[in-house]
Amino acid sequence: MSEKATLTIEGKNYDLEITIGSENEKCIDIQQLRDATGYITMDHGFGNTGSCYSAITYVDGDKGILRYRGYPIEEIAEKATFVETAYLVLYGELPKASQLKAFSARLKEHAPLHTNLEHHFSGFPTSAPPMAILSAMLNLVSCFHPEVLDVPTTGAEFDRTASLLLSKVRTIAAFAYRMAGGRPINHPNPNLTYCGNFLHMMFSDPYQEYEVSPVIDKALNLFLVLHADHEQNCSTSTVRVVGSSRANLFSSVAAGVCALWGPLHGGANAAVIEMLEDIKKSGRLPAYYIEKAKDKNDPFKLMGFGHRVYKNFDPRSLILKKQVHDVLEALHLDDDLLDIALQLEQATLQDDYFIKRNLYPNVDFYSGILLRAIGIPLNMYTVMFAIGRMPGWIANWKELHDHKLRISRPRQIYTGHTARSFIPMAQR
Ligand code: ACO
Repeated sequence: MSEKATLTIEGKNYDLEITIGSENEKCIDIQQLRDATGYITMDHGFGNTGSCYSAITYVDGDKGILRYRGYPIEEIAEKATFVETAYLVLYGELPKASQLKAFSARLKEHAPLHTNLEHHFSGFPTSAPPMAILSAMLNLVSCFHPEVLDVPTTGAEFDRTASLLLSKVRTIAAFAYRMAGGRPINHPNPNLTYCGNFLHMMFSDPYQEYEVSPVIDKALNLFLVLHADHEQNCSTSTVRVVGSSRANLFSSVAAGVCALWGPLHGGANAAVIEMLEDIKKSGRLPAYYIEKAKDKNDPFKLMGFGHRVYKNFDPRSLILKKQVHDVLEALHLDDDLLDIALQLEQATLQDDYFIKRNLYPNVDFYSGILLRAIGIPLNMYTVMFAIGRMPGWIANWKELHDHKLRISRPRQIYTGHTARSFIPMAQR
């Protein structure tokens, strides 16, 4: 007999189903609660609300565990490329050599943008935030591929659409950067790897082909691998909510890009660097910023610290911290911001406020320093996150459709006026 939870309301008992995940996470199923009792539940920010069953990514925030399709992030980060990881996240298994070859070939085939799309980039002001361009252009791409507006979630057509999106997001990102700086665009080169091609499109110049260093190629792969999925975070939930209205994959991920943009989510990677630059410029000690972050009358937060799920450590942050050291050493670079970041981390780990609230560096704390070493400009950091998160968004959109699809539509408790009569203009 399956276990049940009993809820007592107004003296009456209601049995609620309990379901248990493959890692023993437990949930009380309240889907029938309103019909049975007239009550809804309230959960601001959905901190305790499960919105789906998912087999893609597992996170244990207390133990600092992150696994894609069962594989620990530490192993994937060490052994897999981003393309291999994207395949795993999308299809559920590590690709065999022939599957990886076919997948890579599809990514190469779909890298170029329709030439009529190119002039749209010059319609943006040069100061346009690349996240705005990315979101707009993802929607626009679908106009040039009307067949993607209504794709099945399995079979060759899904394979094609998913590859098209994974590949074109990188071309759009690089074109946005080139056009904003008044630089000529670089078309994709089919002889390069996924990351190598992106770096070429970003940094090659007419008379100077960008040489992809293996250190930078590896660092970029790692950055993207670490961002590939993270279960029901703000942007992925957004993709699912939008997709639940049967909106197409492109408009769903474009909405995901918008959600990611905010400084409390993906936008934090750029905000961390701005904060570290500010510390450097002001010459103030980290203690000043820690006290400011603790002041409840000050909206300032220590960027790159805290996480809704990780309450011990974020495993991605540990991997990134080590990678930053390795890359700076391999490239013979010295970055003052790393020293400041290390001092800040050290100081917060000894501060009662941060200890009591379990606030540790998250994925965004060290990722900006890695992107700086790779040569990515600050306004592109959150775009880089979006490129990395694309496999997760697509996999979640697919899973949403593979399961019984029900439109997302939360309830509310109304706190406004009760019914009142309309007041004619003259009496207001
Ligand atoms: N600096 C100072 N105080 C903080 C911070 C921070 N970075 N993060 C959380 N707190 C405090 C909160 O004020 C709250 O204090 P209180 O209990 O006295 O009210 C307590 O810690 C709990 O935090 P919540 O806001 O309830 O945590 P929540 O899960 O809602 O938010 C979030 C998580 C948004 C990540 C938050 O920690 C934050 O704003 N961090 C800074 C921005 C950031 O780095 N975002 C990237 C997250 S990772 C990602 O999205 C990829």
